[in-house]
Amino acid sequence: MGVAGFSKFSKEEKLQWIVAQFANDPEHALQVLQGFWHQDADVQRIFDGFSENTISNFFLPFGIAPNFLIDGATYAIPMVIEESSVVAAASSAAKFWQSRGGFQTEIIDTIKLGQLHFSWSGSSEKLYRLLPELKMELLADVQHLTANMEKRGGGILDIELLDFTDREPDYFQLKVSFETCDSMGANFINSVLEAFGQRLQRFVAEHPEMKADERNLTIIMAILSNYTPDCLVRAMVSCPVEQLNNACEGMDGATFAEKFSKAVRIAHIDPYRATTHNKGIFNGIDAVVLATGNDFRAVEACGHTYAAHDGSYRSLSHCVVENGVFRFWLDLPIALGTVGGLTKLHPLAKLSLEIMGQPSARQLMSIIASAGLAQNFAAVRSLVTTGIQKGHMKMHLMNILNHLEATESESRVIVHQFVNEAVSFSAVRDHLTRLRQSQAYVPHDATETANLKNR
Ligand code: MEV
Repeated sequence: MGVAGFSKFSKEEKLQWIVAQFANDPEHALQVLQGFWHQDADVQRIFDGFSENTISNFFLPFGIAPNFLIDGATYAIPMVIEESSVVAAASSAAKFWQSRGGFQTEIIDTIKLGQLHFSWSGSSEKLYRLLPELKMELLADVQHLTANMEKRGGGILDIELLDFTDREPDYFQLKVSFETCDSMGANFINSVLEAFGQRLQRFVAEHPEMKADERNLTIIMAILSNYTPDCLVRAMVSCPVEQLNNACEGMDGATFAEKFSKAVRIAHIDPYRATTHNKGIFNGIDAVVLATGNDFRAVEACGHTYAAHDGSYRSLSHCVVENGVFRFWLDLPIALGTVGGLTKLHPLAKLSLEIMGQPSARQLMSIIASAGLAQNFAAVRSLVTTGIQKGHMKMHLMNILNHLEATESESRVIVHQFVNEAVSFSAVRDHLTRLRQSQAYVPHDATETANLKNR
């Protein structure tokens, strides 16, 4: 069903149109959509403003993983994620490493990148020769845009000319590097690049050394690159192998370290495993990126490109067991902001930053890399010991019980029954039905009795 001018409809008109056209039960759909509106109209207006054609909000759980000891400070990390077990796994890994020295991080660099792609049929040699002059003009031209950033310690770091004409006719690029301090810098970078584009066109049009057929230059596009391999943080945990003795009940530290490090090496050899391994890392990373109002698509895109930077897609984490010491670390390129964007506009993003003590962008890089490493540790630890399903199914069971509206005492009985039985929706439903039918079952308290009556 098509519609003209949908974006011009009022919110009420959009709602009415969508439920009338597509919902099986328009009245119910309306109730659901409106039920997720924020009760405070001013807050709802802020949310509506984040996007377009907004008719409701989509909730995700906001959880906390406490006890993260990172570079000597303890953090409670907010995580926004819909997958069960992720927050529990992060918390358990944080607790495990808290008594083994915690997470150590190092910011390797914080360089952001932007590209001005252009088409020009002039002499490459001449343009390289005139580059110092061009650079001066470009920098002078964007003084009004860079002044503030320079006051904060950032700005434009370098401008490189790249010649790709051997691969695409007339294709050149200005690759520009930036320091954007506590902001992710997307708007700043894109504004600078667009201004550079205009100045570059004037430069070739007016420069006395350009021949008549060199005076025309086409800007193809000006945009930041989400691949920032030099905006890089390393997060690491390490301990003597014997301190891993209780990483898993019944497995000694040396066996655990060997199995664990082999699992990480496998994720360096096989891209199929590497993809799942890195997905586990991003379970932790994305959850904190989302909680702080940062751009998780940008972070994912960058991380996966980096994972393939030597030509084959590999694990982002590394593990070495040497001289009786277990070392496990993650190298993560990640461009983040703690000012600008949604970070201060979204009330929960703002609160997330407050909970973590108002970190700088550099500190947030360290926190997020640690969350990614913790998640990876927890996932691989489960995989090489008990298997992942044990923990997952426990959470899955709780979700199924919630879905089936089990009372607390019903849940207790069912959880006990599933200690040694495989969890599936139908098995849980059948157990619950039998339990509810059983004469022996007596609800525990008045609330539960009322719940049962209302069913
Ligand atoms: C599930 O979301 C993530 C894992 O598959 C990660 C891994 O296999 O390392 C458990």
